[in-house]
Amino acid sequence: MRYKSFGNMCWDVSVISAGTWQLGGTNWGDVDAERAVEAIRGMVERGVSLIDTAPVYGFGDPGLEDFGFGNAEKLVGKALKGVRDRVRVVTKCGLDYDRALGPRSLCKDMRAEQILAGCEASLRRLDMDYIDLLLVHWPDQKTPLEQIAEAMDRLLRDGRIRAYGLSNFAPEDVLRLHEMLPVGAVQLEYSMVNRVNENQLQMLHDKGIGTMTYGSLGSGILTGAIRTKPDFRPGDTRITFYDYFREPKFTKIQGLLVQMDRIAQSRGVSLSQIAINWSTQKDYIDTAICGVSKLRHVEENCSATNWTLTPEELALLDRAIDTLEENEN
Ligand SMILES: NC(=O)c1ccc[n+]([C@@H]2O[C@H](COP(=O)([O-])OP(=O)(O)OC[C@H]3O[C@@H](n4cnc5c(N)ncnc54)[C@H](OP(=O)(O)O)[C@@H]3O)[C@@H](O)[C@H]2O)c1
Repeated sequence: MRYKSFGNMCWDVSVISAGTWQLGGTNWGDVDAERAVEAIRGMVERGVSLIDTAPVYGFGDPGLEDFGFGNAEKLVGKALKGVRDRVRVVTKCGLDYDRALGPRSLCKDMRAEQILAGCEASLRRLDMDYIDLLLVHWPDQKTPLEQIAEAMDRLLRDGRIRAYGLSNFAPEDVLRLHEMLPVGAVQLEYSMVNRVNENQLQMLHDKGIGTMTYGSLGSGILTGAIRTKPDFRPGDTRITFYDYFREPKFTKIQGLLVQMDRIAQSRGVSLSQIAINWSTQKDYIDTAICGVSKLRHVEENCSATNWTLTPEELALLDRAIDTLEENEN
């Protein structure tokens, strides 16, 4: 495993971290909870030192208690029994729903009282004494940012969290909050099929803020495992949250996969490893969160750190990505 210094937090973080949206078992195809727990433990055994989760991972299944709210957090707590001290746990706050109204009432809410209550609820589900990094999941576009600083400051003083961060926030809001109370890290989407946040990640990294990327495998398309347009079940995250498996993107991305195939064949590596190295070889990307629910994918993805892409290979990939983006405009 390779490690990087993670923002201003004085931690080393593995360049691959574990994503757990899949673990919740809702809207990611057929996910077996026991095998997903095995996958998390497998990542920790291979040196992964950061686990990313959230209360909403697993939410939305009417057959589950509390519609699955907090499901992934509970499984993370289970997976980390006995190895808690080897990893940093990241969870999120600021998304909740009305128990009387059900999943459709899910909404963003970053008021201080919601952050404080959300943190305590997450600690209970994780069955832990503290959270290493608590992120506000999405900006709610109405609560003054001061409320975030106030709530996070209290949680830091009470020892409930070690650091706080922001996910999906505009760069100017990250910088405003950073002045009020230093931001530990940001989490944004970034991969070979989505470079929208590249400048922002670079700028925030330069300010000493840690950077985590999500969708690092383009929700699976960059692994090359799915080459014909899949027929996901309605509500599947890979078509509701991401657009890589929808036309016209799906067909366009196949051209990029062909370039990746060439490197994969000549180097004897996998496409997922190429996607991981393409992002984590950049100095402004500290860790690429990779969502996995199967042990065989863990082995394959973690082996990315056994080798690196050459400057020529990186240039070839960047040209293919430029072509993909030109075709989008
Ligand atoms: N802050 C936010 O708003 C936000 C938003 C989205 C995601 N996230 C976080 O980021 C994590 C990663 O993002 P993501 O999970 O959405 O997308 P991702 O990591 O780009 O892709 C995950 C998908 O890739 C598949 N996969 C992984 N390795 C593979 C391999 N070697 N071969 C074939 N398929 C493979 C997984 O399948 P299997 O499950 O079958 O292994 C899963 O379907 C999430 O789990 C979550 O923790 C945060």
